[in-house]
Amino acid sequence: MESLVALCKRRGFIFQGSEVYGGLAGTWDYGPLGVALKNNIKQIWWKRFVDTRDDMYGMDAAILMNQRTWEASGHVSGFADPLVECKKCKHRFRADQIGTQAGDKSWQLPDSCPECETKNSWEPVKSFNMMFKTQVGASNDSSSVSYLRPETAQGMFVNFKNILDSLHPKLPFGMAQIGKAFRNEIAPRDFLFRAREFEQMEIEYFVNPKEWEKTFEHFRQEVLAFTKDVGLNAAKVHELEVADGDRAHYSKRTIDFEFDFPFGKKELYGLAYRTDFDLKQHSEFSKVDLSYYDEESKERFVPHCIEPSFGLDRTVLAVLTDAYTEDDMGGEKRTYLKLTPSVAPYKVAVFPLLRNKPELIKKAQEVFSTLKANIPGVIFDDNGNIGKRYRRQDEIGTPFCVTVDFETIEKGEGVTVRDRDSGTQERIAEDKLVEYLVGKIQ
Ligand code: GAP
Repeated sequence: MESLVALCKRRGFIFQGSEVYGGLAGTWDYGPLGVALKNNIKQIWWKRFVDTRDDMYGMDAAILMNQRTWEASGHVSGFADPLVECKKCKHRFRADQIGTQAGDKSWQLPDSCPECETKNSWEPVKSFNMMFKTQVGASNDSSSVSYLRPETAQGMFVNFKNILDSLHPKLPFGMAQIGKAFRNEIAPRDFLFRAREFEQMEIEYFVNPKEWEKTFEHFRQEVLAFTKDVGLNAAKVHELEVADGDRAHYSKRTIDFEFDFPFGKKELYGLAYRTDFDLKQHSEFSKVDLSYYDEESKERFVPHCIEPSFGLDRTVLAVLTDAYTEDDMGGEKRTYLKLTPSVAPYKVAVFPLLRNKPELIKKAQEVFSTLKANIPGVIFDDNGNIGKRYRRQDEIGTPFCVTVDFETIEKGEGVTVRDRDSGTQERIAEDKLVEYLVGKIQ
């Protein structure tokens, strides 16, 4: 993990949030390569779950919502982690991370504080609500309270009727959105894995309750298909059927999709059967009818919801940890990111063999312009010698490097294309180059 975090900083993928001020725990800033990688993942997700389907409605709801939303959803009363503080050093821990809970709900904590090692110095375990509270507008009374949303889901539930009234979809149909979520995690950790500000990609898919099992299975397969789309090694993805007592209050069935991160097997995504819990709660709290009239069966009912929920930053982390590779090439140790081309920030880098030969540079720029007009994510690189350029492109995961050399300009013998993973080079005719690369990166 340390090597990966260092690579991410060195190459402009991800920086610690507010780093010049010593950082802000649980926040991360994406640099140019990180944002390109993240945008590629978002596009792949949107394509699979929205663009290629005719039963899905895209959304981009506000982060700030009426406080009643969070009362109805159960977050004000229940979105909390158990917090325990050491009396001596005042360090705060999540009780469930350092201890265990007995059948009678009491906490068994370690004898000594993991931070300062003082024995038996625990304050009582408290419930800590993870929502970030804020105030909307200039007045300071309780009606101005709002929260930074802890999940994107509620922005879709509260718009269910708007979608019905404006687009008139028939069941089953879904709403999908990508956006920021905020949780005041007691112990942010493991790089992007547990952050206080992060992005989610969520779907709320509404069905007739008779059909929930079929839809749940469909999305189980779709979640797995998406992990393949972004190039994750299928052997590292595991499904965990969450037991009765361990599910969120709204769920009748949940599968956690776990991934083998370097720090252990941990949750990557969730798939939950949320029943009619959310629409019923919002109906009750808002007094707005959120039922659906089925014209075929002539029945009116509150639809049930299947929710596949994807952490975007966890996807970035899984993709990066899976791709991080060290090997020996030409007797030298090298580090490279074995990214699948669809997520790689750059697909192709174009070089002149030497940087001090104007004729090579001119030709390389010509090749670059042609490729750029036909393929997304092409860059020109003439910094340092060719060995250094290969190493740099390997480290940022560029699958192909195209080099213009003397054979290209003197004999018209095409360019060399180097494959990142094997390091082998092939000579490809200039007029076949676009077709060749497009075939490789799709
Ligand atoms: N709407 C359902 C929901 O929010 P969740 O399991 O609490 O369910 C869904 O979160 C996903 O969001 C997780 O599977 C994970 O990928 C991501 N996620 C949750 N908390 C996170 C955090 N603190 N940092 C980064 N990603 C997080």
